Amino acid sequence: MDDGRVLVTGGAGFLGSHLCDRLVAEDHDVLCVDNYFTGTKRNVEALLRTPLFELMRHDVTFPLYVEVDQIYNLACPASPIHYQFDPVQTTKTSVHGAINMLGLAKRVKARILQASTSEVYGDPEVHPQVESYWGRVNPIGPRSCYDEGKRCAETLFFDYWRQHKLDIKVVRIFNTYGPRMHPNDGRVVSNFIVQALKGEPITIFGDGQQTRSFCYVDDLIEAMVRMMHSRQGFTGPVNIGNPGEFTMLELAELVLRLSGSKSRMEFKPLPHDDPRQRQPDISLAAEELGWKPTVPLEDGLKETIGYFRRIISE
Ligand SMILES: NC(=O)c1ccc[n+]([C@@H]2O[C@H](COP(=O)([O-])OP(=O)(O)OC[C@H]3O[C@@H](n4cnc5c(N)ncnc54)[C@H](O)[C@@H]3O)[C@@H](O)[C@H]2O)c1
Repeated sequence: MDDGRVLVTGGAGFLGSHLCDRLVAEDHDVLCVDNYFTGTKRNVEALLRTPLFELMRHDVTFPLYVEVDQIYNLACPASPIHYQFDPVQTTKTSVHGAINMLGLAKRVKARILQASTSEVYGDPEVHPQVESYWGRVNPIGPRSCYDEGKRCAETLFFDYWRQHKLDIKVVRIFNTYGPRMHPNDGRVVSNFIVQALKGEPITIFGDGQQTRSFCYVDDLIEAMVRMMHSRQGFTGPVNIGNPGEFTMLELAELVLRLSGSKSRMEFKPLPHDDPRQRQPDISLAAEELGWKPTVPLEDGLKETIGYFRRIISE
């Protein structure tokens, strides 16, 4: 497989920019495409100094004609605040974006990887979630634009694979955190850190006993790259995430300790669509990709707190 020229859609976002860093470090010719809805040029500004990196403003809901060998399709707002801002555009980005990128992959015979999500499992009855579980998703709720958009994108990937023999790879990403997350995206890690650094109360929903698992961005990118280079015929979907579970109280205590903050905790009612538990089964990733996460939560949080400290002080 020729893998010199790589297209990353959503490359100026949180995960996309780390992926671009990694690909450029490995001497790939990287074309980053983004409409800057949630991403920013700042995330990739250091890369602009190298001729290996090219940045293009483009909305993936429109067709794109470029010559590439591999496509990582990450374009899509990922946090509820952002994907619910314009839900119709969110569905278009997932569905039309997938159609356009799959069409491109078909034309230029590129291998294509889809950044899918654990949200395809919806509010699951199976714990931890395995790839063979079909999920329990509400098709008409305020989160459906994201969940169903991503499910439809998976359908399109597998139809292009069956119908057009496209070389597809699908990863289902669970909660990931790290530097370059948006400070105001409403997700728990960024919320807690920003509140702690600003000395504001840390908001805990419910009794704080609900658990989440958090994967550090470097681990996630390693899995994505391994998936792109996985054996011919292995399509996934494959879960990538960190199965280590932490309660919201544990996370809050850790953030307070590592940031040295004096913030207090403030308890608020649990939103009704907040899942009690979400945890990936990563046996397939271990077996096929020889991958497991290696960065402990404490180490990843230190890096992330350092990043937020810098941007808040600017
Ligand atoms: N971060 C996570 O925990 C997580 C979990 C599951 C899945 N994912 C998936 O990974 C991908 C990247 O997520 P992220 O956390 O980096 O989010 P992000 O919002 O930082 O990145 C998404 C990027 O896509 C761009 N974008 C949005 N709509 C676009 C469009 N129509 N055309 C071109 N670019 C567009 C945004 O400007 C942004 O740069 C998304 O597809 C997301 O669904 C992320």
